[in-house]
Amino acid sequence: MANTGRLLGLLSLSFYAALASDNSPLQDFCVADPTSQVLVNGIACKNPIMVQANDFFFSGLHMAGNTSNAVGSKVTPVSAAQIPGLNTLGVSMVRIDYAPMGINPPHTHPRATEILTVLEGSLEVGFVTSNPDNRLISKVLQKGDVFVFPINLIHFQRNVGNGNAVAIAGLSSQNPGVNTIANAVFGSKPKISSDIIAKAFQLDENIVVSIQSIF
Ligand SMILES: *[C@@H]1O[C@H](CO)[C@@H](O)[C@H](O)[C@H]1NC(C)=O
Repeated sequence: MANTGRLLGLLSLSFYAALASDNSPLQDFCVADPTSQVLVNGIACKNPIMVQANDFFFSGLHMAGNTSNAVGSKVTPVSAAQIPGLNTLGVSMVRIDYAPMGINPPHTHPRATEILTVLEGSLEVGFVTSNPDNRLISKVLQKGDVFVFPINLIHFQRNVGNGNAVAIAGLSSQNPGVNTIANAVFGSKPKISSDIIAKAFQLDENIVVSIQSIF
């Protein structure tokens, strides 16, 4: 029985590991060596003796992102691509700027839960639960408020204040990934057949073709 219990424990442990976001590190750090040709899950490590404080450092989140684009928002990521020292550590962050009326369009992070706080302005935020409920969980946030977007669920933000808005978010992966729904569905390369999208979205196929031409 003791062995069975241990086996079950091990099984649940490995099950947990398979479902968790990033793997736990096996050493103090594994500063990314972008020049390495070795392909691993993450990025190969730099020799620890060569590691410097700057490997764990990024400067620039005080600067507003350029929101002059179709959606009126800009995400400035600080992930393992920007901070080599984040490699294997399972976290990252972003600054998000929103022009008045700007949105961060519906998207998912395949590898991370997100926790967001508003630094300036006011945001309407929301996420949608998976099938069959597809329930919208949404709220209007003010400066200092915090909201969580569970891993992999479609979520969005909209600036509902009078001026610009700024948010900072933490993510539970060194490399959260982003699937922007509209871009993935209407802007894939090559395109998904318009009749498939027309049926899925219950739209006239001509409308689908015209949306596809925008992306
Ligand atoms: C912001 O982006 C727009 C569109 O790409 C560009 O025309 C403009 O020069 C940029 N502004 C700044 C300050 O970089």
